Amino acid sequence: MSPEPTPLPPPPDLYGRGRDDRFMRFLDTVTRFYLPISTRRDRYGRRTVPSTSALLPAVVAARTVEAEGVVSLHLRSADSSVPLPAWQPGAHLDVELPSGLRRQYSLCGDPADRNSYRIAVRRIDTGAGGSLEIHQNLPVGSELTISHPRNAFPFAADPAVLLIAGGIGITPLLPMAREAARRGLDWRLVHTGRSRATMPFAAELGALDRDGGRLVLRPDDEHGGPADAAELLGHAPGPGAAVYMCGPAPMLDSVRAAFDDSPARALHFERFSAAPVTDGRPFTLRLRRSGVTLAVPADRSALDVLREHDPATPYSCCQGYCGVCRRNVTAGTVEHRDRRLSDQERAEGQMLVCVSRAPEGECLELDG
Ligand code: FES
Repeated sequence: MSPEPTPLPPPPDLYGRGRDDRFMRFLDTVTRFYLPISTRRDRYGRRTVPSTSALLPAVVAARTVEAEGVVSLHLRSADSSVPLPAWQPGAHLDVELPSGLRRQYSLCGDPADRNSYRIAVRRIDTGAGGSLEIHQNLPVGSELTISHPRNAFPFAADPAVLLIAGGIGITPLLPMAREAARRGLDWRLVHTGRSRATMPFAAELGALDRDGGRLVLRPDDEHGGPADAAELLGHAPGPGAAVYMCGPAPMLDSVRAAFDDSPARALHFERFSAAPVTDGRPFTLRLRRSGVTLAVPADRSALDVLREHDPATPYSCCQGYCGVCRRNVTAGTVEHRDRRLSDQERAEGQMLVCVSRAPEGECLELDG
């Protein structure tokens, strides 16, 4: 392959902002370098896990049905004498299941709890199997592997905050609400869902709303359908509020489209799934070992096409930051669109196929 990929303008990050964002660069630095160093020992001098790249053996310590189709898990380190790495609201971790499937889940417990991480998982019967395995085959005592927490959705604790959650999108926002309540911020949280029975953590959220009026639970079936963007943004505690949002793509897209006409100041969001391909051009993949050639259309990712060819193709975030879909490219020029690979890894021919592409008509040869 060509050693120097064609430079591209940086793609939007997960919050819809350009990568060239000084605040995000600062947070990246803090989460990648400072936090791991600063948390090597806790205040009692106990050792914590020293490397962010290390995976931790963990066990399922508890599981709770939180709502219809939603179960939460408390995960503890297999070595209970070692406190778990610290995390901040908005963080997620990779979970490698006993089957080998690797998935990412937001942490929805309390960052002050260094003995366990809590995640919550909605069962998706038509998904690729990760949620079904958790719901059906992961009892208390099951062993699995977890990564250190990473934060691609950091909470900046703005003075006025609107949190918008769609369904299981409540998971990264619950710790933000807890932090907002703890700091005495002027916060509101709107949680939407199909019905009350499917919406987890209502009691926990209610307990945070000590004065009343900060929490809006909005089941679609009690309001004749999903909320529109104007209704959601209308819950902002005042002009200049920062908005944090996690939910399904239609909700995100409608709020993003309406945001500029709202009095809110900043929009931060996390997607459930991959963003649509923008400025894509068709190219080709050739699998070196089998000789198979696959066409990647302008509006699909290389990962999509590879999964169609081989459903066992590994992936997790589909957004270019977990690294699970990494492949080696032995010929062709890559348009790198991820936030993860270093210049050296790119020069060595690595590619994250969930987001990265190639110029029109290019043929990328993948090793494998
Ligand atoms: S699946 Fe996470 S980087 Fe590609």
